[in-house]
Amino acid sequence: MDSRFDRSLLRDADLLREDLFIDGAWTPGSGGERTEVVDPATGVVIARMASAAAADVERAITTADAAAPAWGRLPAPARSRILRRWYDLIVEHADDLATILTAEQGKPFAEARGEILYGAGFVEWYAEECKRTYGDVIPTNVEGRRLLTLRQPVGVTAAITPWNFPSAMILRKAGPALAAGCPMIIKPAEETPLSATALAELAVRAGIPRGVLSVVPGPPVLVGEILTSHAAVRALSFTGSTEVGKLLMAQSARTVKKVALELGGNAPLIVFDDADLDAAVAGAMASKFRNAGQTCVCANRLLVQSGIHDAFVKRLQVAIEALTVGNGFEEGSEQGPLISEAAIEKVQRHIGDAVEGGASVLSGGRRHSLGQTFFEPTLLIGVHRDMLVANEETFGPVAAVLKFETEDEAVDVANDTPFGLAAYFFTTDLGRMWRVGENLEFGVVGVNTGLISYEGAPFGGVKESGVGREGSRHGIDEFTELKYLCVDGLAG
Ligand code: SIN
Repeated sequence: MDSRFDRSLLRDADLLREDLFIDGAWTPGSGGERTEVVDPATGVVIARMASAAAADVERAITTADAAAPAWGRLPAPARSRILRRWYDLIVEHADDLATILTAEQGKPFAEARGEILYGAGFVEWYAEECKRTYGDVIPTNVEGRRLLTLRQPVGVTAAITPWNFPSAMILRKAGPALAAGCPMIIKPAEETPLSATALAELAVRAGIPRGVLSVVPGPPVLVGEILTSHAAVRALSFTGSTEVGKLLMAQSARTVKKVALELGGNAPLIVFDDADLDAAVAGAMASKFRNAGQTCVCANRLLVQSGIHDAFVKRLQVAIEALTVGNGFEEGSEQGPLISEAAIEKVQRHIGDAVEGGASVLSGGRRHSLGQTFFEPTLLIGVHRDMLVANEETFGPVAAVLKFETEDEAVDVANDTPFGLAAYFFTTDLGRMWRVGENLEFGVVGVNTGLISYEGAPFGGVKESGVGREGSRHGIDEFTELKYLCVDGLAG
């Protein structure tokens, strides 16, 4: 294969796969098309990934459908053991998987390794949880009758996953789907398919049976249309933009699929006058600059109360200016490149609009001297609620600070968005923790922390940020159906 990926970086070069994975086998696909995978830090083409044609996606569905009954019938402890082996292999190969992830996505190696372990956590957690997909026995309403519920696998499932977490978003979906007894077909983002195929290679080694896991990188519109229109696919899990999520939801309505959608956000991070300043600055940095600001849960708007505003901004500026921007493979790099030129343009548009409206750039604000798609960590103050940066997800390293006076005003501004994924606030007042925690219209709320993700906790949004939950005991519900059994004729 003519690719420039430096295989000597990998201990196990067989993890680098540039073909589709269907029915337990690697295949170049029926159309012979390939898509270039580019390292965003260097602009170099590192792989040419096979691109699925319609016939390939249909074959993945047919083979998944054939594999579904046996996989669904396998006793939970047996499925659990296979998933546990997958988890062990992912952890064992974390360095190689992180190398592949950094090469195709750009995030710093340490952060990529963190993502691998974060994602693996979902496989481990659901390897256990599949032994606990309990039903109920309901007190009967009629003598001689018994009422029961069963949780059964929904059938063939599909996942469409994003480039910002090329590994963890797959594992967060495949872990519970496979644990529930459902085969899954994965369509990874075109920018980052190599993490997906590397995980499939480890799935083979773990003994996941053929047909149970397929990976079909390909043209998003084509693959999305087939996965959403095919009657055999019974559930779709998607992470990505609200715009695409709405389209997939509408398309899935034709066959009334279950949908779990984790969509865009516009997270507020509120710092009240009574906040612990160290915790607030650390939380803002962690939330805002994780993955160069390219997460759906990134603090998009920093709402800071007037009494603490200047002290917070001063400390935040010092922290921002201390960030090391660089190629993700360089020692000490803390912020890699953005994913694409379009991402840079959006960041520039948001900064330009804010400055035009009266905001000031205290740090950064420009492309980084490293070139490519590197951007300077940026601090904007004097931002208003009507600016683009406060209304659209910036998805870049821009901390946009808005000043407020009262708690009611902060909650009002925070909720003034069609999105409702994550929100954060910092306070030491116990009453305020409850009040604000309850009044924020978001699916996930971090109090005195900027990092909320964990496999054991439910993740997901309200309003236009999505439906359904991932992680925790609730995440497996997206891949099961609740059956009611009404058994009569039992009177003695
Ligand atoms: C996302 O940004 O889509 C996911 C972030 C996370 O899982 O923490």
